[in-house]
Amino acid sequence: MVAALAGYFAKQPAADASGRCGAHRARQARVRGGRARRQIPPCATCHGKNAEGNATFPRLAGQHAPYLLKQLLVIQNALRSAPVMHGIVQELNRDQMQAVVVYLESI
Ligand code: HEC
Repeated sequence: MVAALAGYFAKQPAADASGRCGAHRARQARVRGGRARRQIPPCATCHGKNAEGNATFPRLAGQHAPYLLKQLLVIQNALRSAPVMHGIVQELNRDQMQAVVVYLESI
C-alpha cells in the first residue's frame, strides 16, 4: 500500500508556482545559495536545484509549509533523527525557517 501510494504521488506533476515577487526571489537565493556567513549550506546542494529531491534526498518543493516547518523544528530539537540535517538546521531561527518553507511550498 505504501509503495503504491508513493508511486502514485511520485507521478503527480508539481504545482505550478505563480505570482512570484521580490521576496520569493530572495528566498530562492537562500535555498540555492545558502548563507555563507553563517555556514549554512545551500539546501539545493542536496535537495536539488528546484528542491525536487532524488532517490537519496526528499523532495521539498510543493510540500505544505506547516509540514516542512514542523520537520525543521523536530530535527533541530533532535526529536527526529536526521543526522545530515541536524548541523544544517542548528543555526536557523524560526523566521528563517518560516521564510524558507513558504518559498518551498510555492515552487
Ligand atoms: C548535505 C545534504 C543536505 C543539505 C545541504 C540540506 N538537506 Fe535537508 N535533508 C537531507 C537529508 C539526507 C534528509 C533526510 C533526513 C532523514 O530523514 O534521514 C533531509 C530532510 C529534510 C527535510 C525533511 C523532509 C521530509 O519530507 O521529511 C526538510 C524539511 C529539509 N531537509 C529541509 C532542508 C533545508 C530547508 C535545507 C537548507 C537550509 C536543507 N534541508 C539542506 C540532506 C540535506
